Order: sequence, then structure tokens, then C-alpha cells
Amino acid sequence: MSLEVRQLTVGAIAENCFVVRREGSDRALVVDPGEEPERILAEVEAMGAAVEAILITHCHFDHIGAVAPLAKATGAPVYCPEIEVPVLADIMAFVPYAGFGPYESYDADETVKGGEALELAGLVLDVIATPGHSPGHVTYSVRGEEAIFSGDVLFQGSVGRVDLPGGDGATLLRSIQALLGHADISTTEIYTHVLDERLRALVLEKHPLANG
Ligand SMILES: [Fe+2]
Repeated sequence: MSLEVRQLTVGAIAENCFVVRREGSDRALVVDPGEEPERILAEVEAMGAAVEAILITHCHFDHIGAVAPLAKATGAPVYCPEIEVPVLADIMAFVPYAGFGPYESYDADETVKGGEALELAGLVLDVIATPGHSPGHVTYSVRGEEAIFSGDVLFQGSVGRVDLPGGDGATLLRSIQALLGHADISTTEIYTHVLDERLRALVLEKHPLANG
């Protein structure tokens, strides 16, 4: 089996949303639809696929801003980290910067906390608890594919920030250890939030704390 992953960098913070499917399948998954729902829908449509589920790694606004419109347009169930469900249900109350949104809130259809094996779109995804960047953060690992969707646990050349509410550095390091135990990091494709360096400089200039 091989995997097709399309990356869409969306919104002002350049969050990476991923559309994932088993190659040739007419069923796809969307991971972390942060913004620009029309663009994500157009991509799925161009693939000739239907969205079977929407998966959230964590509920920082840049990862969930397009969840509600996408869920409504597709009817796909939304999988959300259990303890972050209240954030998805009231997104704007948790947006720390002016000038973003408004984003529509959503009541999660399903919850995850780590330890689950989700059978969706012909794939099996192991859910791994990876808190630290946020308290309920999870990573989705595609069984047999050496591919993980790790949200903001790892950044290009760095790790996720831990200074937002619920963040904790020691917890994050333990999560990274857990990921290393789960996956051979040298051969695993890590789909994460990788900011273009020029864009990172611009974002940080405008929003000094905006780093995922
Ligand atoms: Fe984040």
C-alpha cells in the first residue's frame, strides 16, 4: 500500500493542512484544516475523493479554523483530542491575537486521547498521545506506512513552542521520546508545521508569539 499526501499551507500563520488517502482511493482524510476551507475542498474535489473524516492534532486556532465549514460541506465526522473539545466548541475565546478569524466553532463528533486505532478511508491510524505543545495534542501514525502527522510536536529543525496555555517543556520532551519509540524517525515521513523561513520572519515580526 502506498500513501498519497497533499500539503496545503493555509492562513496567515502558514499552517500545514494535509489531505491523505490510500493511493487511488476515492476516500480521503483531512488533517488539521486550519483555514481556507474552499481551497481544501477544491483540492479534495480535484482528487476525485470524498472526505471520510477530519482529524485534529490539537486545537490551536491555526489548526482548526476551517473545521466547521469543512465538516458541514462534507458531512465528515471530526476527531478531536478529548480535553481540547471545549476549545473547538468556542474557538474565538482561545485566539490569543487580534486580527484572526472569526472562526466558526464546532462540537466534535468523536474524541481521541491516544491509544486508539482508527480505521478510516482504508487506512489504520494509531493515535499517540503527544502533549506538551498543548495539553491534549495527539499524533496520527499511519500503520504500515512510516508516516506520522504530528501537528506542532516537531518543527523543522526544532520542536513546538511550550509557552501557550497548557504547554510544558518536560512533557513535550517525553512526548518526543514516545514518538521515537513508536517510529523509526530516520525513515519516517513527518508531516508537520514547517514554516518557510522568510515567512516565519514576517509572521514573527507581526505577531512575536506566533509560532504554531
Ligand atoms: Fe500549535
